[in-house]
Amino acid sequence: MVFLGRLHPVFVHFPVVLLLLAGGLELYMIYRPGVSWKSIIPLIFLLGIGSGIIAVFTGLQLKNEGGYQESLLLWHRNGGYITLIIASIIYLLKYQFKLFKNDHFKHKSHLILFIGLNLSMMVGVTITGHKGASMTHGEDYLSIELLFQKEQELKVRINPIENIDSAYVYSNMVKQVLDAKCVACHGKSKQKGKLRLDTEVNIRAGGKQGEVLMLADSNGLLTRIKLPLNHENHMPPNERPQLTQAEVKLFELWIGEGGNFKERVTEFKYAEQLLENWKLIIASYTPKWVAPEDGLPEMEVGLKELFNSKGVITEDISTDYHFINLIFRENNKMDEINEADLENIAPYVVGLQLKKVEISAKTIQFISKCRNLRTINLSQSLFQEQLFDQLTQLHQLERINLNHCDVSQSILDVLESNPKLQIVYLNGSKVENDLVARIKTSYPNITLELGGYQLPVLASDTIQYLK
Ligand code: HEC
Repeated sequence: MVFLGRLHPVFVHFPVVLLLLAGGLELYMIYRPGVSWKSIIPLIFLLGIGSGIIAVFTGLQLKNEGGYQESLLLWHRNGGYITLIIASIIYLLKYQFKLFKNDHFKHKSHLILFIGLNLSMMVGVTITGHKGASMTHGEDYLSIELLFQKEQELKVRINPIENIDSAYVYSNMVKQVLDAKCVACHGKSKQKGKLRLDTEVNIRAGGKQGEVLMLADSNGLLTRIKLPLNHENHMPPNERPQLTQAEVKLFELWIGEGGNFKERVTEFKYAEQLLENWKLIIASYTPKWVAPEDGLPEMEVGLKELFNSKGVITEDISTDYHFINLIFRENNKMDEINEADLENIAPYVVGLQLKKVEISAKTIQFISKCRNLRTINLSQSLFQEQLFDQLTQLHQLERINLNHCDVSQSILDVLESNPKLQIVYLNGSKVENDLVARIKTSYPNITLELGGYQLPVLASDTIQYLK
């Protein structure tokens, strides 16, 4: 019976195509009653209705497996019934009782009834199909917003943590992995095993077989993700994107330490291990880096360590090309680092964080050398106008964070010269409304983050992200 249910997604395509075709041809024949192939239409109806009955039958089997959102299921199932009933009525009235004849409808009301029935059947097929698709792929799978979304946003992204000090183990790490790999089946639109993994309350509530956040139990989350891939209880099911080793480790560490939802990364007992592991997770979501056109030699031995010794953090983000994120902290003075070293590391830097850092002439000079830079965070920095000139020299920028900075008209030049730009953060920044409006109209593809809740990327917004 399970097998029959699984055939549903295959069978549903037949009635969809056949009934739409039958309805379309019927309507067409009102204008061209004499077409030579009309005798085939009753056959198409019969095939459509027949395959529709099989689809209903297999669908009811699949329903027994459970885990679908009730309201969608109701629409989908009833839509299916109603559509089939209308198709049968049309078939019977026209081809059995000969009530409708295309070349002459006895009464105008017959014509209207006939058109109405066909249109309702076609609308019925469409709604039923759409609701069915929403059940399998999630309600927002096909939506109008999709037309306006950029491709990048549709891909699963994991947001790196920019400020470890204020990051939470659950909301900044665990939740992101759950969202990426589990929530499609354990979320709002589907609750397989009666389990939702999208919020703290839902996770705590557990699933059909009870709690899931324990260390050792045949049904716990941890047990399931560690089962061999071919075990039927393995999660995620083996046709789906799997957890990486590092992601499994993350769950192990987190649940091992009690599965606390409010614990900060810095409070975590094995924080160091957690962070090492997190780097690997981030790397697994980062798109493969391509070598810059002008090539990139091996990085000098000891260069990163030299920066580290001055308190500058270097994060490896791609082993292929030695690309790194370079993170200066509030008290870091770039002036203490010698110029040759800055110049040497510059081409490897794809992410640069200068949050709350004083921007000196030397810093500005350095930025202009970072020709592969994708992300720059200047939030709350003592920002200088000349910096904009340097940013126009870079052409790979994808994100600029200017939170709490004074932003002038010059930003328009920066936007113009960085065609890959996706997001500009202007949360709490001094920026005139006119300018915002101008950016929005001239650069509709760039997302402006002007504040509010939608800023999980930034450390300063972690707290807002939690609510
Ligand atoms: C493709 C859909 C799908 C994805 C993705 C998925 N699951 Fe499941 N999950 C299921 C199904 C179906 C069941 C119920 C059948 C079963 O018990 O094996 C289930 C059941 C479970 C249960 C048992 C719930 C209970 O109480 O019975 C846990 C725990 C679980 N999943 C965890 C996860 C985790 C963790 C992830 C992400 C790493 C995940 N699942 C991803 C489909 C999925």
